Amino acid sequence: MKVGFIQFNPRFGEADRNLETLERLVEAVDADLLVLPELFNTGYLFVNADEVGALSEEIPGGKTTEFLIRLARRKGIHLLGGLAERDGDRFYNSAVLVSPGGYTGKYRKVHLFFEETLWFTPGDGEFPVFDIGSCRLGVMICFDWYFPEAARVLALKGAQVIGHPANLVLPYCQEAMKTRCLENRVFAVTCNRTGTENRDGKSLTYTGKSQVVNFRSEVLLRAGEAEETVGIVAFDPAQALDKAINLHNDLFRDRRPSFYGEIVKTG
Ligand code: ACM
Repeated sequence: MKVGFIQFNPRFGEADRNLETLERLVEAVDADLLVLPELFNTGYLFVNADEVGALSEEIPGGKTTEFLIRLARRKGIHLLGGLAERDGDRFYNSAVLVSPGGYTGKYRKVHLFFEETLWFTPGDGEFPVFDIGSCRLGVMICFDWYFPEAARVLALKGAQVIGHPANLVLPYCQEAMKTRCLENRVFAVTCNRTGTENRDGKSLTYTGKSQVVNFRSEVLLRAGEAEETVGIVAFDPAQALDKAINLHNDLFRDRRPSFYGEIVKTG
């Protein structure tokens, strides 16, 4: 399976330009799956709810999803990327998955980061796992990495590869994802963005270093901090099906959920 990421610097509020950039970068790619950044069509640093309202789209049906479907069909590829979703009077920080056959599904970010909590509604669906032919693909978005339960749930649901659109501003995720992969014996593709956004007196700098990590926590590929990068790597996702750690230990069989009750208490 050939998997990759498109690390670039989306311009805030310039969806057409960002889609053109994506199309240019994807042109030469030959892969089964490409992961794009979180909020790749709009940029990240919203400063009020009106902006979210103006820049969000329906999934499916919106302009960006339609664009991705055409691109996926033409290139014979799966694309997973983040965008602001509008559903009635609610807005979600979502990821959409499209295949050469069309719209496949979406995920609404469960763990919202910082001021996202002001504009977006937290995800109300499950952490999804999609059969995309070449692998079973689980999806989470950016800050979900901070909650190990997200990757665990995806792995328990059969994900072999975690697709992880991101707009990372903290320096920890890239190293932490190595542990997420090791503790679940899965592959992960984190696609981060680059650049700095300055808006309304606020400033965020994104940490780049998009990466592909294997089930042994080895970094197969990592981009630099600031460069626009199309990264592609080949691996066998079937390796994620074997949860044996050694002759006597199996990652999933050896779990002891009866001791983990605190994790699922909601009160
Ligand atoms: C993040 O969740 N975009 C940090």
